[in-house]
Amino acid sequence: MQAPKVTAEALRAMKGRARIAALTAYDYPTTRLLDEAGVPLVLVGDSLGMVVLGYPDTTSVTLAEMEHHTRAAARARPRALLAADLPANTYRTPAEAVASARRLVAAGAEAVKAEGGVGIADMVQALRAEGMPFLGHIGMLPQHVREEGGYHIKGRREPERRALLADAEALAEAGAFAMVLELVAPPVAAEITRTVPIPTIGIGSGPDCDGQILVINDLVGTFPWFTPRFVQPRLNAFEQMRAAIVAWRESL
Ligand code: KIV
Repeated sequence: MQAPKVTAEALRAMKGRARIAALTAYDYPTTRLLDEAGVPLVLVGDSLGMVVLGYPDTTSVTLAEMEHHTRAAARARPRALLAADLPANTYRTPAEAVASARRLVAAGAEAVKAEGGVGIADMVQALRAEGMPFLGHIGMLPQHVREEGGYHIKGRREPERRALLADAEALAEAGAFAMVLELVAPPVAAEITRTVPIPTIGIGSGPDCDGQILVINDLVGTFPWFTPRFVQPRLNAFEQMRAAIVAWRESL
């Protein structure tokens, strides 16, 4: 019997029962690959700006670019829930968020993600009122990397810890089905995980979240020019591909 389609409700219900494995994918073959590997949550992340499009960060990714890659991933018709990022400056008001999210849903997204907590709670409610599943993202917010001056761990100081807890609670109350915790100090990530009723999915936030998410290129080594410190690649695919291409060229 074929395994059932993964829904936002099913992922939410995994809290306390099973760990959630999530990865990014930006195209058709990678989405099929992750689906065949049994990954239940696939994210068309705006990290594609860096690992696919060659931008220095995610801040200039456009909605049109996200639509293009979401369409490609959706053609794989994954069993996994397919979420897509609302890129920077496309959710400055709840109305703008709803209009932008509709475009991602039309491209094939089954859930949308955006960065922020208390400050975007009204927007999350507006998306939920439209029936759109929402994946939160708090901690280090890559769309703000320029103002922040880099990728720094959040929650080491008490005011930051309190703000993160408030953000997490606001997202859960507004109706998010899960939330990404990026570069959150591990004890604070563990505390949020114990406190909120929805799954936390960590990236660089220690082992005590309900699940983990990684950029696929970091896991399999296809973007060797930069690997975050918290990632232990499972494969050096770039080196293997280069060796295969050199061997083929030299065989001619
Ligand atoms: O854009 C992205 O890929 C992300 C994940 C790494 C969480 O937001």
